[in-house]
Amino acid sequence: MRIVRLSRSLLHQGPLILVNQAHAHQPEAPHPLTAINSHYPEILLERQAARLLSACITEIHGGGAIVPVSGWRSHAEQQRLWEDTLRTNGEAFTRRYVALPGCSEHETGLAIDLGKAAPEIDFIRPDFPYSGLCQTFRRAALRYGFIERYPREKERITGISHEPWHFRYVGAPHAQLMHENGLCLEEYTEFIRQKERRCALGNGSTAHIFCIPCTGEETVCELPGCCCQISGNNVNGFVVTAWEVGA
Ligand code: DAL
Ligand code: ZN
Repeated sequence: MRIVRLSRSLLHQGPLILVNQAHAHQPEAPHPLTAINSHYPEILLERQAARLLSACITEIHGGGAIVPVSGWRSHAEQQRLWEDTLRTNGEAFTRRYVALPGCSEHETGLAIDLGKAAPEIDFIRPDFPYSGLCQTFRRAALRYGFIERYPREKERITGISHEPWHFRYVGAPHAQLMHENGLCLEEYTEFIRQKERRCALGNGSTAHIFCIPCTGEETVCELPGCCCQISGNNVNGFVVTAWEVGA
């Protein structure tokens, strides 16, 4: 075991931050960004998410058929999108499909909208069907740590309408647990807060997941000696993911 000190600013950083209308993105905690690949130099994502998205698309040979439509957006871009959509499509549509500026996952660099290749692709609602290569991607993406963030059956919880094209990077064990338990990120944040969880991964290792409440400017806690990742949840605590090899 080892003692670590977690600063409050970490609460707003990492792949498990919950960003929605009730939990705004904290711009002072930016993630490092990079292009997904050289074909789309203008589409940026958080470094790890970019690498894994690219690897997933390569694994399923989806390069020509799956098009990245929108990745990281600055706050100003999200604001512009919100205002343009409001003008063009009205308030009801905008609230269904565009997150309030400051409350969009796209501002974190952890979200990507994907479209099925076509001569014209709708920027706000790209087609990404539950069939063919798009569905192959959706299944494979879980292993790479991406979840479909806005399922139809969770609309009342997420506050956003069904978006088959919007994927959010959370990390492989978390994507797997969310999928197995049928939870959206709002529910999962509570699920892992209730008690520690374990997730057997395909490579023979087990992820041990537990939460540490944020207790002030500095939270002092004890972590296992093995390889750990710490992410804020953007609400009230830190999520520790510890990989136990051969456990
Ligand atoms: N379309 C999603 C909800 C966003 O604007 O972040
Ligand atoms: Zn999106």
